[in-house]
Amino acid sequence: MGNCVSNSKFQLENNALSYNTDNGKSTKFRRDCKAYLFNKKECLEFDSTSGKKNKMKKAKSKEVFRVIEGRKYHNFQDVHYFLPCDNEEIDRLTNEHFLIKCLWGRNFFSPIENLLLQGNIRILDVGCGSGTWMLEMATTFPSSFYGIDVSAIYPDTIKPQNTNFINTNILRGLPFSDSKFDYIHHRFLLHSIPDRPFKRLVLPELLRVTGFGGFLEFVEADIECINAGPLLQNLASEYAQFLGSKGITLKPIDIGDLLVKTGSIKNIRHLQHIIPMGKRAGTLGNLAAENQCRIWKSLQSVLAPFMNYTKEEYGKMVDTIFTTEINEYESCILMHR
Ligand SMILES: C[S@@+](CC[C@H](N)C(=O)[O-])C[C@H]1O[C@@H](n2cnc3c(N)ncnc32)[C@H](O)[C@@H]1O
Repeated sequence: MGNCVSNSKFQLENNALSYNTDNGKSTKFRRDCKAYLFNKKECLEFDSTSGKKNKMKKAKSKEVFRVIEGRKYHNFQDVHYFLPCDNEEIDRLTNEHFLIKCLWGRNFFSPIENLLLQGNIRILDVGCGSGTWMLEMATTFPSSFYGIDVSAIYPDTIKPQNTNFINTNILRGLPFSDSKFDYIHHRFLLHSIPDRPFKRLVLPELLRVTGFGGFLEFVEADIECINAGPLLQNLASEYAQFLGSKGITLKPIDIGDLLVKTGSIKNIRHLQHIIPMGKRAGTLGNLAAENQCRIWKSLQSVLAPFMNYTKEEYGKMVDTIFTTEINEYESCILMHR
């Protein structure tokens, strides 16, 4: 036997990596793939090409997480995700999932319903977060669901049997064999991936693991709002500049062109949905505003210093936007899929 490292899920044997699912099945990965194991003390990268066990690039502190003003954030230098990964964020993501489902009227638009019902397809949710979309889908349909996220904020043990969650960074490639999936769901991840790796690595990886005749579905929202008042306009513009400073400039509207350029995707459809925020849109409008307000407040740790605001000034501005300004200007969010 060659080198063999393992924890409960991953095994590296003779330089071939496999992942053991909860129901005792084992999935073999490509020989040149990498997997990442996290625990509170360390985060290890297993490279099946070299058989080496490396430490993943963490920020100076040795912790996988860092806490800023009571909120928990990931602590990886090479991950450009600025929202927290704590219980409060899990709660927000869960609420947001049901809000989005309600607004769009369904969980997916690709024509996969019959295949899902037959139960013989495999679905990947990239950047699955709290996993709520997957949990709902896996409870409704008997197919096999896989979710990946760099922060393990999805359920670990109490979950449907047809779900598998993997803790990994998409910027290091996908730990799956070619053509493994029939449908890929990618929601609210675009603004966490710099343009270069999105074009050169993430998109090619998504295409590699999508089987012939499979579907890729992106769900994203514009940073800039429709009918934004001056405060919201300024906040969104500062955020876009902040992301730009990290090499993140792609907009949801760019995805279609990028897919066309790959030359391997056909039948591209683009749907848009305008979501009004605030009182005039009743309960859903209030929930949409509350969700946005929570997102902007969670971004305070990076945006207040970027805008040269104190945390009090920043908090007051966000409160003014979401209690007064959005109602005055009738602001809306533009979503794409
Ligand atoms: C805004 S959340 C959306 C979660 C989920 N897709 C949803 O719609 O509820 C984005 C998720 O992407 C994950 N993420 C960000 N960068 C990532 C990366 N490089 N690799 C894997 N996951 C990443 C974050 O940890 C977070 O859970």
